[in-house]
Amino acid sequence: MFKDNLLKGKTIIVTGGGTGLGKSMSERFSELGANVVITSRKLEILEKTAEEISAKTGNPVLALQTDVRKPFENEKVIETAIEKFGKIDILLNNAAGNFISPTERLSYKAFDVIVDIVLKGTYNFTLAMGKYWIENKIPGTVLNIVTTYASTGTGYVVPSAISKAGVLNLTRSLAAEWGKYGIRLNAIAPGPFPTEGAWQRLFPDKSLEKTLINKIPLKRYGEHIELANLATYLVSDFSGYVTGDVVTIDGGEWLAGAGQFNWLDSVKSGDWDSIEKKVRGK
Ligand code: HXC
Ligand code: NAP
Repeated sequence: MFKDNLLKGKTIIVTGGGTGLGKSMSERFSELGANVVITSRKLEILEKTAEEISAKTGNPVLALQTDVRKPFENEKVIETAIEKFGKIDILLNNAAGNFISPTERLSYKAFDVIVDIVLKGTYNFTLAMGKYWIENKIPGTVLNIVTTYASTGTGYVVPSAISKAGVLNLTRSLAAEWGKYGIRLNAIAPGPFPTEGAWQRLFPDKSLEKTLINKIPLKRYGEHIELANLATYLVSDFSGYVTGDVVTIDGGEWLAGAGQFNWLDSVKSGDWDSIEKKVRGK
């Protein structure tokens, strides 16, 4: 789908790049020639991932530790990445924290920990990059990984829902404000893409997982490469006129949940003759 070396000469910082979707997107960017900087709290995991990706693609992957909640650690990452690669072109805000719980069971600290990682972490990194891009007249690009419930809201992961909604609003707000500097910001709202990090915390039981897959019209999970290719398009120059938008990639999951009559899926096909008789001509 993409030309080799599509991202050659581009340097991309991926927060939460050592595991899950961040790792898959980092590998795709690296395969397409980018210099990739992966960051998170656990240096050992990052270093292993960096080595693994670099061995596959032959391109440099730098592993740098930061807690996105700490602005000075993020600034250090930016400084080190510039020293190594000369400049930074793209920021992928992918790091997150989440777990399922009835909201009334949460402590204040449990709420804070998610909001701090997801919302504060994203604006911390975005602000640091924006200052650097504006000062150096670099037309940067930000891609934020949100969720479909950033738009709809949802129970049982409320700290994550309100934080992702904030990240989506940040995407739109800054797209309008920073467009004049040539800076683009977009978001992706993925449906379910199995990762160890998400599955341990959101679907601890197989039975919970079965309920989930049944409500996806395409009756399957997303494949990491499908998300990685969408992310590639949105960070590449091919999407140069797209900004402030959110692209959903969820097999139709959220629309199926929202559409008023989609529950008719549960009617057996043999029952439609008698239903039609009752309805026709009325
Ligand atoms: C209630 C909980 C809890 C739980 C933690 N807490 N887990 N409360 N139910 N299951 C409370 C703790 O008791 C504590 O509050 C507070 O939260 C902080 O917990 P810590 O364990 O000290 O925090 P920390 O070590 O910083 O870990 C952060 C974390 C953890 C978010 C809790 O899960 C983590 O590191 N996650 C990173 C990766 C991740 O979450 N990936 C999934 C992303 S999936 P008290 O008051 O007791 O001290 C996603 C979208 C999915 O985002 C959409 C899928 C379709
Ligand atoms: P994951 O593997 O658990 O990824 C989360 C990453 O964030 C980890 O690498 C983690 O690394 C990092 N992180 C957490 N707290 C951090 C902090 N304070 N500072 C820096 N890094 C931190 O889960 P995932 O499923 O791939 O999720 C990736 C993104 O996709 C998230 O934004 C998530 O909300 C989104 N998403 C996922 C799905 C899905 O189905 N998987 C669906 C919708 C949206 P450390 O622990 O080393 O810090």
